[in-house]
Amino acid sequence: MRLLVVGGSGFLGREVCRRAVATGWDVVGTHYSGRVEVPGVASHRVDVTDRAAVRELVTRVRPDAVVGTPYRYADWAVTADGAAHVACAAVEVAGADAVSRAELGLLVARRDRLDPSALRITTGPAVGVRRSTEVRLDSARAAVLLRTRLRGVAELLAA
Ligand SMILES: NC(=O)c1ccc[n+]([C@@H]2O[C@H](COP(=O)([O-])OP(=O)(O)OC[C@H]3O[C@@H](n4cnc5c(N)ncnc54)[C@H](OP(=O)(O)O)[C@@H]3O)[C@@H](O)[C@H]2O)c1
Repeated sequence: MRLLVVGGSGFLGREVCRRAVATGWDVVGTHYSGRVEVPGVASHRVDVTDRAAVRELVTRVRPDAVVGTPYRYADWAVTADGAAHVACAAVEVAGADAVSRAELGLLVARRDRLDPSALRITTGPAVGVRRSTEVRLDSARAAVLLRTRLRGVAELLAA
């Protein structure tokens, strides 16, 4: 099992790293201005205020579990927004509907009272692109982890 500790260089994060290593987990910790310095922990630098960077890190590490302890006194961007970036990156929520990008575009257009016929839609084969025709993001794990019900995109945009 691989654990990602965002804030691994902090007081709490370091202790989580230590205990996870002792339990036999494969542990990756993050630092920002300090160092993780826990034997057996691979460390990566990340700034949690950078949402894309957090997402990229989680995608690269592919952890089984994430612990987030980023904190900076009186700094909302780190302690609140940063923690939210970590949570969002950890739970890739696909929603209950499987829709194509074209269908999503049409749904958004209808929701925003735009003319759906203005969207130029084509298919991969029509423009000579060969790739899988059916790729779905499985949200079953997210549904188990979340307390809120996962709404499908059609329900969400109709609300
Ligand atoms: N300490 C406790 O006993 C305890 C108990 C319960 C709950 N908590 C809560 O746990 C949280 C962490 O507490 P702590 O004592 O571990 O704090 P801390 O020692 O100050 O650690 C804060 C961590 O956040 C990281 N960080 C700061 N700015 C960052 C940024 N922009 N991007 C990424 N990482 C950033 C720090 O990295 P660098 O140091 O590398 O910059 C460090 O790893 C707080 O919300 C606290 O209230 C703490």
